[in-house]
Amino acid sequence: MLGIIGGSGLGVLSTLKEASQRVMSTPYGTPSAPLTLGLLGGKRVSFMPRHGAGHTIAPHLINYRANLWALHAQGVCDVIAISTVGGIPDEMIPGSLVVPDQIIDYTHGRESSFFDGTGRPLKHVDFTLPFCGKLRQRLLRAGAASKENLRDGATYGATQGPRLETAAEINRIEQDGAHIVGMTGMPEAVLARELGINYAMLAVVVNPAAGRGSNSAGVSIDEIHKVADTAMRKVCRVLESLEQA
Ligand code: HPA
Repeated sequence: MLGIIGGSGLGVLSTLKEASQRVMSTPYGTPSAPLTLGLLGGKRVSFMPRHGAGHTIAPHLINYRANLWALHAQGVCDVIAISTVGGIPDEMIPGSLVVPDQIIDYTHGRESSFFDGTGRPLKHVDFTLPFCGKLRQRLLRAGAASKENLRDGATYGATQGPRLETAAEINRIEQDGAHIVGMTGMPEAVLARELGINYAMLAVVVNPAAGRGSNSAGVSIDEIHKVADTAMRKVCRVLESLEQA
């Protein structure tokens, strides 16, 4: 089954048909919200809003392990993560949709593994390619089918939040090779890998990153919300066009 993790601006997937809610408990605690099960473009999906149904859970406080565990326990084998991001190069204009292919992790202090010394035999997962190639291609085909322009490939820098970055941090992150910055891609992506879940991200650029473009003097949070609202309609069209696995 397909799982969708909704980010900022996508707390409910109102396009889900025949939706029902399922409260999940996990060995890692409580997920961000009950799972919403339903049909999207004829496909069965499980939806989890990572910030909670009322968008109250900050990126560094999300129980990523419980969210991924709940999806896995529900029989999800493919996850598409919707994530809002800041764009670093000029071409990453607000409203762009991006399917990243690499990650740099700047987060700290998050529970970032299921191998936490509580008895599971340790396995080091390969993370050379952090996103599932096949699922990325499926997402890109859905972009073509829905006539939405998706950029194929970018490096996602996962920052700690909940504050936005300084202009100097963005300069450093760009030098490291990142094109977009967001606060939730890690440890979500690696936890999916540890559970054997295929994981790809549809990133939505909602602002020029700190110090870039129109944001040379500061990032407008109101503007972020406006762009996110409009872009999520495009995201829903892409999701509806996803082929069956
Ligand atoms: N930085 C980090 N995370 C974000 C941003 C940003 O500029 N925009 C949306 N999520």
